[in-house]
Amino acid sequence: MHDTKPFFLRDPWVYDQNKKRNLRQDARLGFDTRALHAGFHPLKNVEQFRAFVPPIVQSMTYPYPSFEKFPDYIYGRSKTPTVSVLEERLAALEGGESAVTAGSGSQALFNLIFTIARPGDNIVTTLNTFGEGYKQAATIFPERCGVEFRFVKEFSEPKAWDRAIDQKTRLVWVETPSNPCLQVTDIAAVAEVAHAHNVPLLVDNTTATAALQKPMELGADIVLLSLTKFLAGNASVLGGAIVGPEDLVEDIRWNTTEFVGAILQPFEAWLMLQYLETLSLRMERHSANAQKVAEFLAAHPKVKHVNYSGLPAHPHYELACRQMKAHGGLLSFVVPGGMQGAATVMNSLELIVHAVTFGTSRTICMHPRTITHEHMTQEERDEAGIDDGLIRLSVGLENPEDIIADLDQALARL
Ligand SMILES: Cc1ncc(COP(=O)(O)O)c(C=O)c1O
Repeated sequence: MHDTKPFFLRDPWVYDQNKKRNLRQDARLGFDTRALHAGFHPLKNVEQFRAFVPPIVQSMTYPYPSFEKFPDYIYGRSKTPTVSVLEERLAALEGGESAVTAGSGSQALFNLIFTIARPGDNIVTTLNTFGEGYKQAATIFPERCGVEFRFVKEFSEPKAWDRAIDQKTRLVWVETPSNPCLQVTDIAAVAEVAHAHNVPLLVDNTTATAALQKPMELGADIVLLSLTKFLAGNASVLGGAIVGPEDLVEDIRWNTTEFVGAILQPFEAWLMLQYLETLSLRMERHSANAQKVAEFLAAHPKVKHVNYSGLPAHPHYELACRQMKAHGGLLSFVVPGGMQGAATVMNSLELIVHAVTFGTSRTICMHPRTITHEHMTQEERDEAGIDDGLIRLSVGLENPEDIIADLDQALARL
């Protein structure tokens, strides 16, 4: 009866590294211009909206033009207009073909894996991933879906990635710089290894953002984003996205999201569109402030170790300088005295807030051992560098002298 094929149950995505990507029309525009205009331009979207700011379309269902014809938007579980503007903008910023959003970054990762992996398949990654990602990899997917995760130890060694990949590998997943230890992985080198096996590379670009790092230009096929962090910049939105080839994005949208409804809502998408307008300005300032704070901590006698790729002592300083425009706003450091030492410092902070997230305009600290990485075994934590005295610091946009003064007085209590 209907003149188009059913809107759900698309063909599953099949990765083909030789398939040419469609170059986006806005690819010729600079990054800052895309952050302002991609997906919506007041003069080009007049048919749809006559407005300067993209409107919030809060409707969750859309009228059919006739019995036989499907509308462009059908129902809120698949896509809605304000969210589509955001998806276009995220794809443009990462340089990908297309994007699909989700209710959180963790949900975006889950949707991707759930869409592409089947029982018996495996995914190759490392222990250098965010806490919920590790939990999905270590327990949820292996125990409930029969998908194996292989954690590469020598992640700086392309051969180690090569050894872990086999016929059943569906994805190689790299988080760089990683949360919370700011480990840096060579995206181009891992892409080369993955592609030699015709396996796609996923890069989690949450900590750097596209303002500082372009994984797709270095060979990544798919990008994972938590919108909750620097992309929003103030902890007022929870959201996530997968950027990648259009056929993968449509597989996720129609074969997973449409059935479970784990979507981003229009108001959150609208907020994100406002916040993205200042992304590159914010990332520049976060990076400049973090550099000063990292240098202060590295020179402090009470600090055992600092993880920040902007310090020449970082094991991958040169790679990070090549791969990233600046080193970002996230760092972590180890204080003596283990858990007690961390508690003393964190309880003494007066300006810096103790909370679970990062990428906010206000400086935040968090204790990975007890909060985000508590599920790891001690052996895994040792390997990943999650010391009992490790404190993660997301350096905000305050005057850096004030952040440093707060840390200085707190460290003096040790
Ligand atoms: C690197 C990274 N990716 C993804 C996520 C997941 O994001 P969300 O908190 O939006 O689920 C996080 C959260 O901490 C993260 O640190």
